[in-house]
Amino acid sequence: MAALPAFFGLLMAAIVTAQHVEITPLKAVRRVGDELTVLCKVPYRIDSCRMTVGPTSYRLIPNNQGDVVYAGQGLEVGECGANIKHIKEEWNGNISCVLPPKSGSIEVTGTMQLLVARPPGDIQLLTPPQSSFKEGDIFMAQCIVPNGRPAAKITWFLDDEQVLVGTHQPIITSEPGSDLQTISQNVSRALVADDSGRRLICRAEHESLDKPKEASRQLLVHYPPKRLDDSSTITIFGLKLSAEGLLNVTVRSNPRPHAEWTIGDLKLVAPQKNEDASIEALEPIHLGGGYYNVTLLLSRVAKEDVDRTYYLTVANDLGREDFSVRLSTMDEPAARKAKSSFLIIDIYGVELDTGAIVGIVVAVLVLLIGIFLIVFAKATDRWCFAGANGVRDHTKSSGESTPAGDVLLESGMAQPSRTDTESAVGGRERSRLGALGARMRAALPRARDRVQATEPRTEADDKVLSEEKKGVVYAELQLGEQTAEKPPPPSTEYAEIVYTEQNQQKESKE
Ligand SMILES: *[C@@H]1O[C@H](CO)[C@@H](O)[C@H](O)[C@H]1NC(C)=O
Ligand SMILES: *[C@@H]1O[C@H](CO)[C@@H](O)[C@H](O)[C@H]1NC(C)=O
Ligand SMILES: *[C@@H]1O[C@H](CO)[C@@H](O)[C@H](O)[C@H]1NC(C)=O
Ligand SMILES: *[C@@H]1O[C@H](CO)[C@@H](O)[C@H](O)[C@H]1NC(C)=O
Repeated sequence: MAALPAFFGLLMAAIVTAQHVEITPLKAVRRVGDELTVLCKVPYRIDSCRMTVGPTSYRLIPNNQGDVVYAGQGLEVGECGANIKHIKEEWNGNISCVLPPKSGSIEVTGTMQLLVARPPGDIQLLTPPQSSFKEGDIFMAQCIVPNGRPAAKITWFLDDEQVLVGTHQPIITSEPGSDLQTISQNVSRALVADDSGRRLICRAEHESLDKPKEASRQLLVHYPPKRLDDSSTITIFGLKLSAEGLLNVTVRSNPRPHAEWTIGDLKLVAPQKNEDASIEALEPIHLGGGYYNVTLLLSRVAKEDVDRTYYLTVANDLGREDFSVRLSTMDEPAARKAKSSFLIIDIYGVELDTGAIVGIVVAVLVLLIGIFLIVFAKATDRWCFAGANGVRDHTKSSGESTPAGDVLLESGMAQPSRTDTESAVGGRERSRLGALGARMRAALPRARDRVQATEPRTEADDKVLSEEKKGVVYAELQLGEQTAEKPPPPSTEYAEIVYTEQNQQKESKE
């Protein structure tokens, strides 16, 4: 048990001693010939300063000259630094400063690590030996950058594009007894058609290299002919009767495909003409990237050419693809490509998708409602919009009249519910009309309206509207009483629209 405190004491002593010297930097990478400044500090005055660089121990005295010279603010502030010029390969390793202790006779030391960079050996890219691959194959490559100090850094590219997916964890190894490091990294990739012709590059970067080293190999990916659109029949538009006709189909294939056209009983294997040279199957033309232009040339398009179907078979070693081709003398419809929307309306060549249609309908509705409201207000000569104070308190609505010229209008566009603000209009009746009520009022242009609209307490407009459809609406004309403030013109009639809902009828009659 006594061993533990003793061990602790030792540990503490070690830490205290180690902390005595503060050394910066702790680690540095330099090339041969570079320079480095190492600084050691203690919090007391010192009278000597030594630095061990490689096999040699240097005594550092301010203002002395040489390859390793004193650096720092002075011995009296406890600074012992070295400016090391022309770094040599053999200095790779630890650099230590040795300083006198504050008390006692055991010197204190600080140690940092200098890595003298050494360029790695030749980069090796190991790939499967075969010259070409099939689409979907998993391609595996390994890149090895040997014997660098420190280890090199590997990055992968496909042409100019960095490969980030499929790179494995790099592995760094070193020979026993050597500080040179070998790094290797694997990459795997499921090959796609677009990879064909691209170059896989392993790039090694290293402190001691001005320019990264690279190793690369080209990928060749083979695949059977593929159609570019999913439709089973290709229609060639815009052909003219009695003129030359080109039936061109673009396919993707690697290696190069063979094309065979079947026209009725006639079979043409490109490049081939029929007897009278009126039909010619042209040799597929490579457009680049594995795309081929496969064309049948009709020297003169006749009526019966338009009616028949041309069959094309495109094949290579890996497979085949069949096409049927039809001719049309019409122009190609403009709205063929957009497939993203469920509903597409084509108006004079202008495509409208679902979103645009909904937008237009909403805009038209908003416009119509706006026009309706303005026309209504003008026609009835009433401009005071009660919307801002819109009150829905149906208990106050009975037996009170509206002064002349007062239009009670609400747009019916989802107003937030409000409590009664009686004071604002001095106890006048204010009522709220939904879209249905407003329409009824429009039918009575010169009338002064006294409207009793009983609404459900939920006061959500949509709900109101849907409830109104279920309920019964009464409209009656009645002579209203006058309010004290504003006598109505003598000709005025009052229209009362009573919307009655069964369960709230009692309340509203109060
Ligand atoms: C360098 O210093 C580290 C710790 O500071 C030590 O572990 C290592 O053994 C030293 N290397 C040499 C070659 O002295
Ligand atoms: C990398 O690939 C090589 C050869 O294909 C293989 O031997 C090695 O185990 C792989 N390493 C990793 C980490 O996948
Ligand atoms: C035929 O060629 C024209 C251009 O010459 C091209 O726009 C069209 O897409 C091609 N048709 C097919 C089906 O590949
Ligand atoms: C395909 O080839 C024909 C005949 O050479 C040419 O007229 C046509 O424009 C080509 N189509 C494409 C898409 O290159």
